[in-house]
Amino acid sequence: MSHLLIVTGGSAGIGRAVLAAAPDDCYRVGVSRTDPDLPGVVHHATDLADPAAWSALGDEFDRLVHADDWTRVTFVHAAGTLAPIGFQGEVDHDAQAANVLLDAACPLVLAHRFLAAVRDLDVRRELVVLSSGAARTDYPGWATYGAAKAAVERWVSTVAAEQAERGGVRVLAVAPGVVATGMQALIRDTDAHDFPRVERFRSLHAEGRLADADDVSARLWALLDDPDATDPLVDLRQR
Ligand SMILES: NC(=O)c1ccc[n+]([C@@H]2O[C@H](COP(=O)([O-])OP(=O)(O)OC[C@H]3O[C@@H](n4cnc5c(N)ncnc54)[C@H](OP(=O)(O)O)[C@@H]3O)[C@@H](O)[C@H]2O)c1
Repeated sequence: MSHLLIVTGGSAGIGRAVLAAAPDDCYRVGVSRTDPDLPGVVHHATDLADPAAWSALGDEFDRLVHADDWTRVTFVHAAGTLAPIGFQGEVDHDAQAANVLLDAACPLVLAHRFLAAVRDLDVRRELVVLSSGAARTDYPGWATYGAAKAAVERWVSTVAAEQAERGGVRVLAVAPGVVATGMQALIRDTDAHDFPRVERFRSLHAEGRLADADDVSARLWALLDDPDATDPLVDLRQR
């Protein structure tokens, strides 16, 4: 194995598809609460909404990155949740706080730890954080999620500029489009009182217009091999 791949949210949806479609030379590590149950994937059972877990995982990044003479190291942060969907001031307090920690704080902390871990490596290095169109559009009922993705995109565009100046890690925020995963099922199951635009997502599903997670993953891997893709903020629907 010459390529180290670490994927959060590897147990389901897009993260799982990214692990499943990884190049053959990958040593694959998945981080999530449940086991992806994919042959050859090393699973780290972690609740990423718990800040106490972030430091331990960062230490694990340090260990993994220096465990072999990798020729390429890739981190894909796909873990995330829309829950609790609903208006701010109305949703459950603890669930809202967990959402802030998982979607807004965790990506920035782990991505920083990844950059620190690979800083002294002189090999191909890539950092991908999954974003969303919600970073730039108001969806009432998704305020925390949208704010978190906006934070991710600002962080990525700034850090990509830093890495261009020194560091050399390719840093990307990737919005995948509307993808047929558990996250979309959660949206469709939500009452219009909590998510007024729910009918649009039910229609997209009924019309068969959701992207397939395996197709999204294939386009993500192709993006990483595209030397002309220089913008750090990527909408996969445009590719
Ligand atoms: N699907 C879409 O249409 C869509 C659109 C735009 C952006 N995105 C983004 O794409 C990424 C992946 O979404 P998806 O649709 O694939 O979601 P998904 O199918 O719901 O999967 C979410 C993944 O995140 C993990 N996760 C959730 N909470 C976690 C926690 N507390 N600790 C650790 N892992 C946790 C889940 O694993 P466990 O439950 O096992 O912990 C699972 O592997 C997300 O960042 C999402 O915002 C998705």
